[in-house]
Amino acid sequence: MSSPASEMRGAPAVGAADAVIDATGVHRWYGEGDARVEVLRGVSMRVLRGEKVAIMGASGSGKSTLLSILGCLDRPDAGGYRLDGVDVLQLSDDEVSDLRLRRIGFIFQAFHLVPQLTILENAEVPLFYAGVPLRERHDRAKSKLEQVGLGHRLHHRPSQLSGGEQQRAAVARSLVLEPPLLLADEPTGNLDTENGKAVLALLDRIHAEGRTIVMVTHDSAIAERADRTVHVRDGLIVDSAHAPAGKATA
Ligand SMILES: Nc1ncnc2c1ncn2[C@@H]1O[C@H](COP(=O)(O)OP(=O)(O)OP(=O)(O)O)[C@@H](O)[C@H]1O
Ligand SMILES: [Mg+2]
Repeated sequence: MSSPASEMRGAPAVGAADAVIDATGVHRWYGEGDARVEVLRGVSMRVLRGEKVAIMGASGSGKSTLLSILGCLDRPDAGGYRLDGVDVLQLSDDEVSDLRLRRIGFIFQAFHLVPQLTILENAEVPLFYAGVPLRERHDRAKSKLEQVGLGHRLHHRPSQLSGGEQQRAAVARSLVLEPPLLLADEPTGNLDTENGKAVLALLDRIHAEGRTIVMVTHDSAIAERADRTVHVRDGLIVDSAHAPAGKATA
């Protein structure tokens, strides 16, 4: 079971109202009857505003499944999920899409940029869906790409960029609507050490700006940079370790 980092640091007890993520008893299964496979078996997890949380666990333990539910890309089969106090499971599909668009940025291991579009056009996609006018779309996407150091690559397609540049473009795209929550599923998994470092430094900066980050990683050195690590084993959270106080308040 997870417990908020600030409780461990002696701050006043916090309730659900302070949580960006509040998942309770989440189950997710595939198949029916004897063939039913329980991928998540009652996961409860709370993440507070401004926290940076790492999720670790063996391959197949359910990390991506959990992150998809936290990111409203998937729904639990049982249990509850509130995002910023909103009961996600009571919302229609359209309402969930809107919530996801405005409140959550998502970064994937394989970048998931649209290959036919330039990175400027890729970064404009969420703004298009949010109904932002063309000119503003262009300006905001350009500004975000400049912030991640890609101002000189705006008209390149993903295949013309390095892996690290593609991931930085994906980070820019995930942030164009200024979502308070950023979810990342092994964001450095496809990158070499140098490119990985650049993306991690970027995530540190985004966290320092006040955003909440939840990141799946296999790398304990990366997890150590988080305030807290949640361990998933066989579809359950087995413990939630806290970084030393010095790191946690950094
Ligand atoms: N659509 C699906 N249908 C059936 N089983 C699925 C489906 N999606 C995931 N699973 C199963 O759920 C389990 C958890 O998958 P998940 O992708 O969450 O693992 P993970 O912890 O992210 O692993 P990895 O570290 O390899 O990315 C796996 O055994 C997987 O085979
Ligand atoms: Mg995974």
